[in-house]
Parts: sequence; structure tokens; C-alpha cells
Amino acid sequence: MLERQDLIKHSLRENDYTDLVAELYDGWFVDNPTKDSEAYRTFFFKKTGPILEIGSGTGRLLLHYLRQGFDIEGIDDSDAMLAICKRKAAKNKLKPVIHHQRMQDLSLDNRFATIIIPFATFMVLHRIEDVHEALKRFYDHLLPGGHLVFSMFIPHLSEEESRRRRWHLRRLAERADGSLAICNEVNTYDLIEQAKFGTYRYEIVKDGEVVSVQTSFQKFRWYGKYELSVMLEKAGFNDITATQNYQEVEIPHHHSALLFSAKR
Ligand SMILES: C[S@@+](CC[C@H](N)C(=O)[O-])C[C@H]1O[C@@H](n2cnc3c(N)ncnc32)[C@H](O)[C@@H]1O
Repeated sequence: MLERQDLIKHSLRENDYTDLVAELYDGWFVDNPTKDSEAYRTFFFKKTGPILEIGSGTGRLLLHYLRQGFDIEGIDDSDAMLAICKRKAAKNKLKPVIHHQRMQDLSLDNRFATIIIPFATFMVLHRIEDVHEALKRFYDHLLPGGHLVFSMFIPHLSEEESRRRRWHLRRLAERADGSLAICNEVNTYDLIEQAKFGTYRYEIVKDGEVVSVQTSFQKFRWYGKYELSVMLEKAGFNDITATQNYQEVEIPHHHSALLFSAKR
């Protein structure tokens, strides 16, 4: 019989940022100030030069930086997230350059001074060969001396905890029309594969009734500090650092947030 995480592996879509998952995204994040936007700006955008955001999504950061005058473009492979980003940009008279691409296929004419991958998006790559390919492509898309910066988390788990399967509330937000957006999650972990398998149930509840629901599966692969350093070196990077001096919003206490930075 297949284990639950095997079932999830089989049912995983390449990108699960669809429909309700995309529709609710900004409600959780955009109205809440997150520390990461300030951190990237302060520590990594000092030099001039074009910036590329991998997995730019609904434009939480991309549109924010465009408004501040940064030369930034993005890539993302979710139709739903891209559509929301474009709608918001049009409303704000912004003209973002966003490419519909997967990071493991990254292929652009431009070269960048900085590539950022916020909100642990690098961890969504499922296949290890995609991970190596993506790192190589990030390297190739940087200008000499260019900087790759990305966030990650490492769950702190005892073996017992890693087997625990318990639904719990992940996010809750009130929407403009008075309805509630709710996300419950249950996770399992594969310590050998360094993978977290999350099942997320998204609901909109209006006047006590569930009016919309979507179940989404996500897999996150984590890496040890030294392991990822070796992988970055193999892709050609140097000056590799991993710091914990900035914490992303919403990283639960049993996770450890890391910010990797590497230079071409
Ligand atoms: C957690 S969201 C982050 C969005 C945005 N960077 C932010 O900070 O708000 C992850 C984004 O990565 C995108 N994504 C997932 N897998 C991807 C892939 N293989 N290549 C490019 N984008 C991907 C998703 O569509 C989604 O928009």
C-alpha cells in the first residue's frame, strides 16, 4: 500500500498556485508588512543594475520595488498568479516585465546584477536534477560579480514529530466582503529526502457557510547549510554565505530561516 506521502508525491502538480490558492494569496501577505522587502532592498540592492525575481507571483515584492524605481523583472509559471500581478500592475499604471517560465528552464536575453528568490520559493523544486539545473541557470543569468540571494527554512523535527499528522490552522484573514479566508494544513516529512509534504485546505466561509474550497499539495525540499554551499560551488558560485539575521514573516518557531547569498 502506498504511504500518504507517496500518494501526495503522485498527485503533486508542477505548480499548485491555482484558483483559490492564488486568489487568497494577497489577502494573507500584501496587507501585512513583511520584513523581507526591506532586507533585500537594504542589503542587496545597493549597486545599480537590473534585478530578477524568481517566482514573482502576484507581485508582492516586484510591484513594490517597481514603484520605488528599481529596474526589476520577474519570472513565474503560474497563470493565476501572473494574471493577478498584471491586473494589479494595470490598476497602478505600472508596466512590469514578467516572463512566463519555470526557474529550472530559465532562459532570458538579459543578464542581472542581482537575482532574488524570496519566500523560500527555491524549495518548491521537486526533482534534484531540476535543482542543479536551476542553480546553473541562475549563475549563467548573472553579470560578473552578480549576486544570488534566496531564502529557505529548515524544519527542526524529532523523528516522532516528523511522523505526526495533525490538521492545524495555518492562516486566517477577514476579507473586504466580511467573509473569512481560512487555510488549514497537515504535513508529513521524509527526513531522508529532506522533504516536507504539505496538504492545505483553503476555504472561504461566508455567513457560516463554506462557499468555496480547494485542496492544494506542496512539497518543500530543504538543504543543509554546507550541502547547499557545495551545490552552489558546483554551479560556479563563490563568496557563499548563509545567515539567520533576518526572519521571514510567518516562519513558525520550529523552523529555522536561512538567507543564502552567493556571487558569480
Ligand atoms: C510563495 S510564492 C512567492 C511569490 C512572491 N515571490 C512573493 O514573495 O510574494 C511562490 C511563487 O513561485 C512560483 N513558482 C513555483 N514553482 C515555480 C517554478 N518552478 N518556476 C517559477 N516559478 C515558480 C509560484 O507560481 C508562486 O507564484
